[in-house]
Amino acid sequence: MLESVLQKYMALINTFKTELEKPFIGREEEALVITLALTTMEHVVLIGEPGTAKSAMARRAADLLKARFFKYLLTKYTEPDELLGPIDIVAFKEGRYARVTKGKLPEAEIAFLDEIFNASSAILNTLLTLLNERVIYDGYNEIIAPLWTLIAASNNVPDEPEYQALYDRFLVRHFVKPVGEDKWSKLLDAAWRIEKEGYRAPQPVISMSELKQIYNFILDVDLSSIKQSLLRIYAVLEDHGIHLTDRRKGKTLKLIAAHAFLKGRMIAVEEDLFVLKYTVPSTREEADKVFAILLEELGSRERLIYELGEIESNLVEVKNYLAKTASFDPKLLEYLRGLEKTRERLERIARETSDDKVAGKTRKLLVEIEELIELIKERIIS
Ligand SMILES: Nc1ncnc2c1ncn2[C@@H]1O[C@H](COP(=O)(O)OP(=O)(O)OP(=O)(O)O)[C@@H](O)[C@H]1O
Ligand SMILES: [Mg+2]
Repeated sequence: MLESVLQKYMALINTFKTELEKPFIGREEEALVITLALTTMEHVVLIGEPGTAKSAMARRAADLLKARFFKYLLTKYTEPDELLGPIDIVAFKEGRYARVTKGKLPEAEIAFLDEIFNASSAILNTLLTLLNERVIYDGYNEIIAPLWTLIAASNNVPDEPEYQALYDRFLVRHFVKPVGEDKWSKLLDAAWRIEKEGYRAPQPVISMSELKQIYNFILDVDLSSIKQSLLRIYAVLEDHGIHLTDRRKGKTLKLIAAHAFLKGRMIAVEEDLFVLKYTVPSTREEADKVFAILLEELGSRERLIYELGEIESNLVEVKNYLAKTASFDPKLLEYLRGLEKTRERLERIARETSDDKVAGKTRKLLVEIEELIELIKERIIS
């Protein structure tokens, strides 16, 4: 009984993630980080150059959740009233100080603040306590806020020291990269579809109470088998001059557990430690460095499983592409070359691995890739 309930929630959160990434090209990782933050009651910031769908992803995440949410684009001139609600005039005349908070940040369960590092110092102070303590002080009153997760977006990492405390409150920080050249063709198709059809808000797929239930399950994930590896990696990072605050060291455990849950496990394994990519780095350069260290440090088995996972999602993309385009297309030659290279890589893994799981997955992918190569060849000839 409990088993099936658990599986239901594991499936549900995966549905959310899949729905979130659906209209976008190459935004699987962004969907992952948003999902991880939502399932751990943490905050997430997406950092990247303009026009990389940061706002669009955050908006879609909010739409897919059945929750009270608040969205706002911050400018240097945004006043606290705009986020917290105006002063309640009626109460004021009676000598009380209160705000009309309906529909505003103090009542939101999920919030999306775009261009977060535009926050003025008054707003900054409010956000610091809100994010950490889930409380809003406005000079007179203390409001307990139901905020679960703040999703934020920004073009840059803030340099100014006054923003560092705010930045540290985002356990999950992700550097969004523009879509790679191999995906530009698909990007054009997707963007054109969005232009033509306009943005249609999706139906919510998950509620706050379901999210809270998932959070409780995640707190039960068994972390005992990764603890030693985690300590080792923290030490290696420190040796490389990459320091993370004590707050982040501890909270990273939640993200590891959430990743395990998302993968359908109640026990964390080394593969889950890849989430350190989202909690450790504070700059884009550090992000690349940390990822390289993780690849180096994590066992070869985990590395291979990760690599196979990437190959698997690439194959899904190729399949989707083929399903959408019926006739010959010059793009097909490129795909063919890519697939043949990947096939060589898979054949090598199959020869060299002694691990059952890796071998099994590799065989399955080889069958799929073989079929895709045949399919593309047929199209090119006809
Ligand atoms: N990877 C993508 N897949 C599909 N569409 C995309 C992708 N990237 C951008 N777009 C299109 O570009 C639009 C602009 O994206 P959006 O406004 O969310 O960017 P942004 O990263 O928030 O930019 P800014 O930093 O300027 O606020 C999206 O609504 C979408 O139509
Ligand atoms: Mg934006």
